[in-house]
Amino acid sequence: MEKVFSLGLQPLANDFCVEEDERAGFAPLEVLLCPRCGLAQLSVVVRPDVLYRSYSYVTSKSVMMKEHFARLWRDVFEMSTHNGVIEIGSNDGDFLKFIAQNGATSVLGIEPASNLAAIAAVNGIQTINAFFGLGSATEAARIMNERGIIFARHVFCHVDNWMDFMKSLDLLAGQETIVCIEVPYVVDQIKTNSFDQIYHEHLSYLSLRAFNALLHRTPFRLRKVLRYPIHGGAIVLVIQKGISTPPEVEDQIKTENLDRGSWQNFSDRSEGLIKCLGDMIRQFASAGRRVVGYGASAKSTVWINAMGLTRKELGCVYDCTQQKWYKFIPGTDIPVVHEGGFYVDNPDYAVMFAWNFAGECISKQAKWLKGGGHFIVPVPAPRLIGADSVAATV
Ligand code: TYD
Repeated sequence: MEKVFSLGLQPLANDFCVEEDERAGFAPLEVLLCPRCGLAQLSVVVRPDVLYRSYSYVTSKSVMMKEHFARLWRDVFEMSTHNGVIEIGSNDGDFLKFIAQNGATSVLGIEPASNLAAIAAVNGIQTINAFFGLGSATEAARIMNERGIIFARHVFCHVDNWMDFMKSLDLLAGQETIVCIEVPYVVDQIKTNSFDQIYHEHLSYLSLRAFNALLHRTPFRLRKVLRYPIHGGAIVLVIQKGISTPPEVEDQIKTENLDRGSWQNFSDRSEGLIKCLGDMIRQFASAGRRVVGYGASAKSTVWINAMGLTRKELGCVYDCTQQKWYKFIPGTDIPVVHEGGFYVDNPDYAVMFAWNFAGECISKQAKWLKGGGHFIVPVPAPRLIGADSVAATV
């Protein structure tokens, strides 16, 4: 394994705490690349019980996410003959709620974070509160007779023991079951310079080549690869037992072009971006401008810590998620505050850490932009967005 990217010691990206909470601490954040199969993965694994016991990430309620749910469900629904659906890592049950209203005959979630499983239960989504493994797979199989589709959205790259995961999937999936694994696509991450998706929860950065190498040690084969713009570029790996991979998918795997050089260039570009945005924010702040963040995403933790900012330079980060309000961006003294106060606060510049929902944030804050405010969108390279961008996005 060769080291291809490093941000040194970093806090856990979703460890949002109030003053008196005990912090989870810091761990090295570095990516290693396997030259043989092309898999990129972190050098250390933070224990899942530390990362996920109480989890602040709540599935986005944005319009873009709703559109993604609809598109994904339409694409997968067409492929399946049975519509009993299990979701691994079902978060607050939002996706299952959507599909239950749109054709799924029965739904069941599996979610380790007790705070989120409780929200799902209130929303009427039956949820097994556990990590996915042989135990929860057995329980899910007992509850759900008809298992047409299994979703695992943005879960697989959080998993350390893949063989354990695949064995549990094998237990749960029949020959007819379609398994849909959604992950950020490493090729898109590299292309868009989104190094901010590298944090301790994301243990691997998946290419088709690496995933296919894994599948050959299981009864599953790739049936289709779907691509979506969500989270800056995601793929849904549709797998099934007892099939052979169609030639067009084999071609997709063969034409994927990613090597050590691509990672090295990405690492150099990321270093440049961190310096560029950090300098920009420091200059604005020292000129007396009020600079804040917009969207307390995990990505914001990565950026802010990589730039080494404090509250002096970046006053606060606005966010719509109640669970994050009045907590601190991990590793910093920068508070997260209610998005509702943004317009009243009227900052000069807001760094858009929810850049994957940029269009929506621009529309939402159109009045502020028209009044002279500016967003700074950090990727693929920092750029200013002012009033002239509103007409284009609304
Ligand atoms: P997200 O990109 O969903 O995830 P991650 O944490 O994996 O990087 O995070 C986006 C954050 O931005 C989330 O905390 C919600 C917030 N947000 C707003 O505050 N306002 C908005 O209009 C949108 C779209 C998101």
